[in-house]
Amino acid sequence: MRPPSSVSRRAWLMGAGAVVAWASSPARALMAQMDGSAAASTDLNALIARMTVEEKAGQVTLMAAAWAGGAANALNPTSPSRASFRQQMDDVRRGHVGGVFNGNGAEMARQMQTMAVEKSRLKIPLIFAADVIHGFRTVFPMPLAEAGSFDPELAERTARIAAIEATAAGIDWNFAPMVDIARDQRWGRGIEGAGEDVLLSRIMADARVRGFQGHAGLAAPDAMAACAKHFAAYGAAEGGLDYNSVDVSERTLREVYFPPFQAALDAQAATIMASFNELSGVPATANHWLLSDVLRDEWHFDGLVVSDYTGDMELIAHGFAADAREATKLAFLAGVDMSMQSGFYMEHLPDLVKSGEVPMARLDQAVRRVLALKAKLGLFDDPFRRIDPSREKTLVRTPAHLEVARDAARRSIVLLKNEDDLLPLPRQGKTIALIGPFAQGQRDLVGPWNVYGTDADAIDLLTGMRAVAADPDAIVAVDGSGVDKPIRGGIEAAVAAAQAADIVVLAVGESQTMSGEAQSRTDIVIPAPQMALAGAVAATGKPMVVLLRHGRALALHGAVKDAQAILATWFLGSMSGMATADILFGLASPSARLPCSFPYESGQEPLYYAHKNTGRPNPPGPRVAYKAHYRDAPNAALYPFGHGLTYGEIVYSAIDMGTGRLSAGGELTVTATLRNSGRHEATEVAQLYVQDITASITRPVRELKAFQRVTIKPGESREVRFTIRREELLFLGQDMQPTVEPGKFRLWIAPSAQAEGVSDIFTLA
Ligand code: NOJ
Repeated sequence: MRPPSSVSRRAWLMGAGAVVAWASSPARALMAQMDGSAAASTDLNALIARMTVEEKAGQVTLMAAAWAGGAANALNPTSPSRASFRQQMDDVRRGHVGGVFNGNGAEMARQMQTMAVEKSRLKIPLIFAADVIHGFRTVFPMPLAEAGSFDPELAERTARIAAIEATAAGIDWNFAPMVDIARDQRWGRGIEGAGEDVLLSRIMADARVRGFQGHAGLAAPDAMAACAKHFAAYGAAEGGLDYNSVDVSERTLREVYFPPFQAALDAQAATIMASFNELSGVPATANHWLLSDVLRDEWHFDGLVVSDYTGDMELIAHGFAADAREATKLAFLAGVDMSMQSGFYMEHLPDLVKSGEVPMARLDQAVRRVLALKAKLGLFDDPFRRIDPSREKTLVRTPAHLEVARDAARRSIVLLKNEDDLLPLPRQGKTIALIGPFAQGQRDLVGPWNVYGTDADAIDLLTGMRAVAADPDAIVAVDGSGVDKPIRGGIEAAVAAAQAADIVVLAVGESQTMSGEAQSRTDIVIPAPQMALAGAVAATGKPMVVLLRHGRALALHGAVKDAQAILATWFLGSMSGMATADILFGLASPSARLPCSFPYESGQEPLYYAHKNTGRPNPPGPRVAYKAHYRDAPNAALYPFGHGLTYGEIVYSAIDMGTGRLSAGGELTVTATLRNSGRHEATEVAQLYVQDITASITRPVRELKAFQRVTIKPGESREVRFTIRREELLFLGQDMQPTVEPGKFRLWIAPSAQAEGVSDIFTLA
């Protein structure tokens, strides 16, 4: 129970000594009137005026939490600074740290914050940051999977719950959302974003920022500041190799990689993280054009820019800075306000300022941004507002949160294929052999980049299926194979189980260590031992449903590709097994769509639907000589962006564009009819694509401009209605200015980026 008044609450949380110290602290006195207005900046300036240059350098220094369970150090054993808790407490006391990240638990945060506001000279509170990528203790589907819901309200809801749980454990600032577009599935970090498409990524960026930050202002105890990352084009790494060089044109940056960041900033994201990669020769962390000219001067962002983990230190390895001092200067002057984990700013900024190489005004500006963020988060008013061990216990993993996790997981599962309506399976009357390394056991459920949730708290497939089926004993589970190693006798046991069953459910794919940070793959296939298992089980001739577990789009081959039914089930989090069972047995109908294209072969990567036509296009279909087409793969995705079946049967017809003319200031209304001629209710995601047929800059073959989720009962029809405005047809002209050119546009309303659906041509006057 929280005591009611804020004074007694503070006393309760901090202990009387701390209250006295805080109440009389210089920072507190100056912040007393803080309300985010012009007066507030005066107060900040007054505080800054009292700071030594070392204290200023401390404010712009962010370090991984040193206490037990401090996840960041565990994640990166090469971290240059692995301070002990005692050393870190001492740094806090001396004002040499402005914030810590990825610590675990409110109690240790409470001790550290008490040190900051009681013992440091100016008593400036720390900020606590963390990677809360897809849920906190309640784990939601990996963000890429959740983007497949095409449902921003869902994404906002899960982000909100993540914030409620994380803030209860003391976290003020979240290193999410990742808004990097990922068009190469070899890159393992695609799991954290919203996939290959600009519009979907923008919409999800907006939703996630709103969810994390909430609607009651950042000072709300359950609001955490968002951080749009990684600025910029981190997902465009050459060869899909994480951290690799990026060399994309300014046009591609502005048309593809920047818009999700702009959406995050429009949604008031408080902070941005610079990316590890270089951009055409200049590392993002030291890229003045990117971090200052674009971000500050063009977009007028005045929030905080933080480096990625040791990003400034890595300027030396990039061959861009000779040493730590130069790296500090380059990153800081380019626009990185706060340095994560290298300790470089603390070590070198005081001297750089004293020597005149870095103006004090720039240091003051960066410090002001850190302090302003702390002020907006309400930390000057109550440094313990998010540190409350009792709330931490009661607010996490509540039944309501787990129910949302189950719903989100159901809405993230994509039905790729369903021959002869094998799915949904009957809940009784059939025996099922559940086979594969992901069939049972609490491994590989929550997925990569989950610092605070655990597999041990998640529900596996076998448990979920037995809970949902009418007859739990009708389901037997056999591993059959490890993820990348065979099991002795495994295939024989699996084949015997398949032979004895009516239906096979085969759970195969990637372990959670195969995607995520630093987990790039050259060949995005299911490992050979699992393919051998799939082949042997399929040879029994039993009807087979494949459940894929994966952190990226995969190149599906052999018995997996040929199975009668395939569900993309990604990493779905805490309620993984329950949600998958709900879909398998038809308690819920699949409604998600692919946020990234599944290739036929790994060598097609990067593969994305919004590519250019080329001068020798070879549309999907047979290969034509001297046209753009691989010798050894179809010219298409096996399952394209936007693809996803339902348990209904949706037929598109009757596109109507009225006059088919869009005037300069006007709108064009387009309608189409969707009929469900199947036997089950279905939620269809109708997608509107446009192609600008001829323009002064070549345009993609299709671009998603809008989508709508519509639920249609069997035998019923629904009209979908879209409105197109001129702004939606803008692109950057040869002078890099936004332009829209009169002419003809093809428009589709279709169930995927590769499907015809219904289409027509309109004219922009
Ligand atoms: C490195 C990752 O690139 C970044 O996304 C993350 O926020 C930091 N480490 C901190 O854990």
